[in-house]
Amino acid sequence: MKALITSGGRGTRLRPITHTQNKHLIPIANKPILHYAIEGVVNAGIKQIGIVVNADNDEVQQAIGDGSRWGVKITHIPQDAPLGLAHVVKIAEPFIGKDDFIFYLGDNMVVGGVKRFIQEFKKSNYNCWLTLAKVKNPERFGVPEINSRGRIIGVEEKPKKPKSNYAVSGIYIYDSNIFKACDSIQPSARGELEISDAHQWLINHKYKVGYSEITGWWKDTGKPADLLEANRLILDNQEVKIEGEVDKASVVVGKVVLGKGSKIINSVVRGPAIIGNNCVIENSYIGPFTSIGDRTLVKNSEVEYSIVLRDCKIIDVKIRIEGSLLGNDVEIVEANNKPHVHRFMIGDQSRVEVAW
Ligand code: DAU
Repeated sequence: MKALITSGGRGTRLRPITHTQNKHLIPIANKPILHYAIEGVVNAGIKQIGIVVNADNDEVQQAIGDGSRWGVKITHIPQDAPLGLAHVVKIAEPFIGKDDFIFYLGDNMVVGGVKRFIQEFKKSNYNCWLTLAKVKNPERFGVPEINSRGRIIGVEEKPKKPKSNYAVSGIYIYDSNIFKACDSIQPSARGELEISDAHQWLINHKYKVGYSEITGWWKDTGKPADLLEANRLILDNQEVKIEGEVDKASVVVGKVVLGKGSKIINSVVRGPAIIGNNCVIENSYIGPFTSIGDRTLVKNSEVEYSIVLRDCKIIDVKIRIEGSLLGNDVEIVEANNKPHVHRFMIGDQSRVEVAW
């Protein structure tokens, strides 16, 4: 069994962060989203992984490398344009050959790994194995129609009137019949070769399509709120690890990870939270479900339920920062100017909410 993981597309719903960074490299609990997918398939015993990357950019190749750090072989497969998930499968055929494979969308996160799904697929003797999760908003996803005997009889992509309250998650397992399906379908109205249409083609042509239900949490990290929620879920499961320094005036409670060279000075850190290497947290409060990247300074400020990337400065911010996503090298500081005004230097497609 091989694995195929996506890291392409444009990540438009996560702009402006994705103007300068591939969405799959945005850290959740200080680890790139893509690492969770790679570790998921590595933990299931897979040794050969193909990663589909945007052909016009090599940042994923640079960041991930050849797989040796996970003891596996990673092959990078360039995609000229984001023409759809079935297009991703098509261009990976030379890499997959006749093997079975797990197709894992690199922006999906699932607790408990994928080994169970692979075992169920192998036991089933089916051609295609989907993983389904109950959701409140199925219209955002591929949605299965399931008959009274529990069989999948249809799959629709982002339907206006969903036929069940399940989403087809971004973890699929196939035998090589999926290539026939991907070669036979036509682009959808939005111009993409939809993976849901390939699944429908398999059903229409009497191939066997089965499924496992995901009972733990699963997240498609497409939007900022999803990233914060995934961050919360990962932090909630982490173990305490304090490698930096905490001075006597500070209080650090709960599941807190503090990286090497970091200093907590006269502050309160209430976990679950992670603070990277060489950070300074001074006269400040870091609240639950916060991730802070390397070399960030938080001084005289409060941050909670947020993701702050590396090399940021948050200084003298009077009102608590909450539910926020800060990119690399971001500065939020008190205005020392007269008249007392807000002064912004914000990139395209940013969003700022102010409070007084
Ligand atoms: O997350 C589950 C959902 O993923 C499924 O329920 C849908 O049926 C499926 O179509 C997909 O929907 P999304 O709209 O969330 O897909 P998105 O365009 O965000 O792409 C998913 C991943 O694939 C992401 O890692 C980006 C990457 N990608 C996407 C396209 C269209 C590529 O690498 N190449 C592409 O051409």
